[in-house]
Amino acid sequence: MGQPPLQPQRGSIDPAVPGKLCQVGWDLYHQGRFEEAEDQFGRVLQVDPCFGPGHFGLGEIARDLRHYEKARELYRQALQHRPTLEPARLALEDVERYLHAMEQEQPYLGPILAAHQTHPERLRLMRRVLQDWCLAHPNQTCRILEVGSWAGGSALLWAEVLSEVHGGNGEIFCVDPWRGYFEMDHHRSRHYRVMRDALETGAIFQLFLHNVRTSGYQQIIVPLRGTSRQVFPCLADERFQLVFIDGSHFYEDALFDIDQARRLVADGGLICGDDLELQAHECDLDHARAYHDHDYVADPGSGTHFHPGVTLAVHELLGEVSCWHGFWAMGRRGAGWEQVSC
Ligand SMILES: C[S@@+](CC[C@H](N)C(=O)[O-])C[C@H]1O[C@@H](n2cnc3c(N)ncnc32)[C@H](O)[C@@H]1O
Repeated sequence: MGQPPLQPQRGSIDPAVPGKLCQVGWDLYHQGRFEEAEDQFGRVLQVDPCFGPGHFGLGEIARDLRHYEKARELYRQALQHRPTLEPARLALEDVERYLHAMEQEQPYLGPILAAHQTHPERLRLMRRVLQDWCLAHPNQTCRILEVGSWAGGSALLWAEVLSEVHGGNGEIFCVDPWRGYFEMDHHRSRHYRVMRDALETGAIFQLFLHNVRTSGYQQIIVPLRGTSRQVFPCLADERFQLVFIDGSHFYEDALFDIDQARRLVADGGLICGDDLELQAHECDLDHARAYHDHDYVADPGSGTHFHPGVTLAVHELLGEVSCWHGFWAMGRRGAGWEQVSC
């Protein structure tokens, strides 16, 4: 008869072994090789079932595969074995908040599914710009066209302002294909991987619908599912009081969106957008032109990361615009455009 397999005794384990095995698991995980990473973290736990980071690694895979209850359990186990494992504590908080929002039928705009996209400071400025417009046009219906809605963060903000200061007198039309739109070859980080998967699986559109429904703004938020190139030609001239551009940031797309927005905004209305980190006069324009088909690059002079496509398109179609922390805006006055204060 063969001998039964040896079970590792905790006291006899070389303390360096689980850590080394775990590192291989992380390398596989960061390459998006989840099955192999899962096997590797499993090996870690065979060697030492109490090795907290091994449970944490499995939790991260479960979260990325959108198995949030399983992830919650694995993070708890990780913390049970290693209470000081800070990344596990933060990750546990993230999934608990998400699961709570789903269970309680509340909107969710946190880090899960990269739902939260816009910096709080930019949100504050967006709120301010719309509030000012509403106060200056108290009796006018405010039709908003938004390009790029993701999980609904900006759409909910517009809806909140309309209902708080404009008696809900308006609508927000959200143009977004909610389908894959970037090449993974250029974007291998976890953030982009999560975004790509959220689009491919339809998870982000489901979250957008959940957020609109549970926020109570279903009556005034209207999704128009498609790219701006598909949807804009169906929209009449001067139909909107505010057009917000936050879709594809590649040059050709940004140019198309801004050009169309000029046609779609009524006199007295606004065009605004996100992700203008640098204007033309603030960056090396030749470099921006050379990288116009890249999403996000570093400006060689300032070292600031920016979206060259947005910088070039804004510059060519509107010139220097009002801009605060990457959020930009221009007001239509007759046939021309002027900067706005905030
Ligand atoms: C940065 S996210 C928008 C974030 C959102 N405004 C917020 O504040 O939460 C960009 C969105 O643009 C959408 N998108 C990409 N290309 C597009 C296009 N050509 N037309 C319309 N939407 C597009 C993507 O699907 C994605 O949801």
